[in-house]
This record gives sequence, structure tokens and C-alpha cells, in this order.
Amino acid sequence: MRKGILALALCWWASSAMAVGNIDVLARTCNNCHGLNGVSAGTTMPSIGGLPRGYLSKIMKEWKYDKRVAATMNRIVKGLSDDEIDALATYFARKPWVPVPQKTSAATYAKGKATITENCEDCHGATGNDPDEGAPRINGQWAEYMALELEKYREEEFLMPHRKMKKTVRKLKESEVYPVSEYYGAQNQ
Ligand code: HEC
Ligand code: HEC
Repeated sequence: MRKGILALALCWWASSAMAVGNIDVLARTCNNCHGLNGVSAGTTMPSIGGLPRGYLSKIMKEWKYDKRVAATMNRIVKGLSDDEIDALATYFARKPWVPVPQKTSAATYAKGKATITENCEDCHGATGNDPDEGAPRINGQWAEYMALELEKYREEEFLMPHRKMKKTVRKLKESEVYPVSEYYGAQNQ
């Protein structure tokens, strides 16, 4: 009996130590695509360091439970437990958000600004760094990545659960999708 309890206690200790100890190792597997500390170096790959914990955890679980469409991430999170997802969300939320400001032309910038002032600023802020609760920062997020995400919101059959985002983005003209993405991508703060 006592042996049993001891074994159980050891087991618990080992598994909880593992769950915590593994996060650095697990997070390193994300760096291959999302960059060191979640600051991405690839135009179609989002930066994730410094995004809100609740947002990170929520969307990873949506992918895991098939409530949100993705090309890549759905497969990656399928192998993670909910606790690992929460721990990864905490890990990346503690990193600083580092905008990667990108170049755009004056005309595209002006067009993007006019469009976001009318449609997006209320929720994301004028530069994307002051979002409503539940929305991630998008100032200096990669423009190409954002345009790809916006296209997902525009397709009716793609499962993107945030209804107001979907409704707003579907109102845009196709010719406005890149300008709004480039506008927010160009913000350095
Ligand atoms: C093989 C490359 C790859 C790896 C490895 C990878 N990701 Fe991703 N990640 C992507 C891609 C591509 C997207 C864009 C969504 C999609 O198409 O799947 C993305 C999107 C995300 C987003 C959404 C960001 C946003 O701004 O909404 C989060 C959060 C995320 N990944 C977390 C992680 C975590 C945590 C890990 C490690 C466990 C990880 N990713 C490993 C490729 C990768
Ligand atoms: C009603 C508030 C609201 C409005 C209006 C809105 N958004 Fe969003 N946006 C959000 C929220 C909340 C999310 C996160 C959605 C989720 O959790 O699935 C989001 C997500 C995004 C993302 C994905 C970010 C990432 O890291 O993957 C982009 C890009 C974006 N919004 C751009 C826009 C643009 C451009 C407009 C205007 C055309 C806009 N949004 C209008 C609230 C809003």
C-alpha cells in the first residue's frame, strides 16, 4: 500500500516536472517557423511573441478541436495536450512584441489608412498596437501573412469563428485587402 502511494507520488512528481521542464524544448520546435522568441523572419509566417495569452491559447485550441481552418497549425497542435497549449501560450505571451516594419508605397499606405479608419480602427486601433480585448496586435505583423488570413475570413466556407471580423473583412473590396495589410505591416509602434 505504502509502496503504491510512493510510486504514485513519484509518478506525479515526474510528470509535473516534465510538463514544466519541457516547455523550453517544446517552444524551440516553434522557432523553426516563428523565429527566435516568436519574432518571425518569414513574410508568410506570423510573429507570435508578445501576443495576448488568452488569444494564443484560444486559437490553438480552436485548431486542435477543428473549429478553425489552418493550412499547417491544425496538424501541429493535434499532438499537444491542452495543458501544453496553455503553457506555450504563457511562454510566448511573456516575450516582447517586436514589430517588423515593412516598406510600402505612399499611395498604398494612404489607401490602407483610409480603409482601416473606416472599418478596422475601432477594434484594432489606428496602428494596430491597441487592440480590443480578444484581438491580437498587428502593428508590424507580416503584411503577406495578414493578407492570407484576411482571404480566409473572406471565404464563406472557411471556418473562421470570429463573426464580426468575418463580416467586416467580407465588406472590403478585393483591391483593399493588400493595402490594409501593408498599412498595418508598416507600423513600427
Ligand atoms: C512548420 C512551420 C510551423 C511550426 C513548426 C509552427 N507553426 Fe505556428 N504557424 C505556422 C503557419 C503557416 C501559421 C499560419 C496559420 C496556418 O496556415 O497554419 C501559424 C500560425 C500560428 C499562430 C497564429 C498567430 C496569429 O497571429 O494569429 C500561433 C499562435 C502559432 N502558429 C503558434 C505556434 C506554436 C506555439 C508552435 C510550436 C508548438 C508553432 N506555431 C509551430 C507555421 C508553423
Ligand atoms: C469587431 C472588432 C473587429 C473589427 C471591426 C476588425 N477586427 Fe480584425 N480582429 C478582431 C479580433 C477579435 C481578432 C481575433 C479573431 C479571433 O480570435 O479569431 C481579429 C483578427 C485580425 C487579424 C488576424 C491577426 C493575426 O495575428 O492572425 C487581422 C490581420 C485583422 N484582424 C485585421 C483586420 C482588418 C484589416 C480589419 C478591417 C478591415 C479588421 N481586422 C476589423 C477584431 C476586429
